[in-house]
Amino acid sequence: MNYRHAYHAGNFADVHKHAVLTLLLAHLRRKETPFHVLDTHAGIGRYDLSGVEAGKTGEFEHGIARLLAGPDHPLLESYLRLVRAENEDSALRFYPGSPCLIRGSLRDDDRMTLVELHPEDAATVRALFKRDRQVTIREEDAYQALKACLPPKERRGMVLVDPPFEVRDEFQRMIKGLGEALRRWPTGIYALWYPIKSPAEVARFTDELVNFGKPCLTSELMLREPTDETKLNGSGLAVINPPWQLDEQMGSLLPLLHERLGCQGGTHLQWLVPS
Ligand SMILES: C[S@@+](CC[C@H](N)C(=O)[O-])C[C@H]1O[C@@H](n2cnc3c(N)ncnc32)[C@H](O)[C@@H]1O
Repeated sequence: MNYRHAYHAGNFADVHKHAVLTLLLAHLRRKETPFHVLDTHAGIGRYDLSGVEAGKTGEFEHGIARLLAGPDHPLLESYLRLVRAENEDSALRFYPGSPCLIRGSLRDDDRMTLVELHPEDAATVRALFKRDRQVTIREEDAYQALKACLPPKERRGMVLVDPPFEVRDEFQRMIKGLGEALRRWPTGIYALWYPIKSPAEVARFTDELVNFGKPCLTSELMLREPTDETKLNGSGLAVINPPWQLDEQMGSLLPLLHERLGCQGGTHLQWLVPS
């Protein structure tokens, strides 16, 4: 486990994933009944962009920094509010990872479970949410946690699956884990992030998603045309059981992100299985 998200925090893929995550959380807040969020690959929760790792790659400069520099937009309201809440005045020093974005979206009766396998990262995120009764931390494998934690007692909510794709069979592991999760909790919302390096590899993954027969909406933001399949050319997010009107929101959000982040490839929004 060599992957450290601190090198990539706030990059174009985080912006894509987190902008959609905050929209999903806003949908969950529309009903009064409590919800639960399971974040299977939590990371450390909050990133210091003035640190050595972020400084080495400068990826956030082409991601969240660009978004914050532009005008506000209703679809980004919740996301940017949560980013600004981590910072003073108009500075950009800290970037909230998925744990902080989720925690900032919970009401008093909502809960979240964070799963992180890397011992150091698990200790860091545990310290961040010390004595927070709405947050449970599990230091274990994401796919074990999917079996252990679902369905949540609230029976309403979502799962974010955001692996580092360090291992060659991560796509297959995701599909297997998702199959088990859907058997346990068929009505949950699932957001699955995937890297777009090779379009053929992505097509094999999306074909597998179709086989589940569950409503599934994919959104893809391409940094560049995928001519070099060794590079991260785009960011993909598949949402299973998407809330009503997410497709319309995504139809506006994707071109907006594309323009603001200066992406050179296209955007794709597709119902793999219509709802
Ligand atoms: C892409 S980062 C997560 C970023 C985070 N979701 C966010 O949006 O801020 C992936 C994380 O998964 C962790 N990880 C890697 N393999 C794992 C596994 N099998 N189970 C749980 N966590 C794992 C890594 O240590 C890393 O912190």
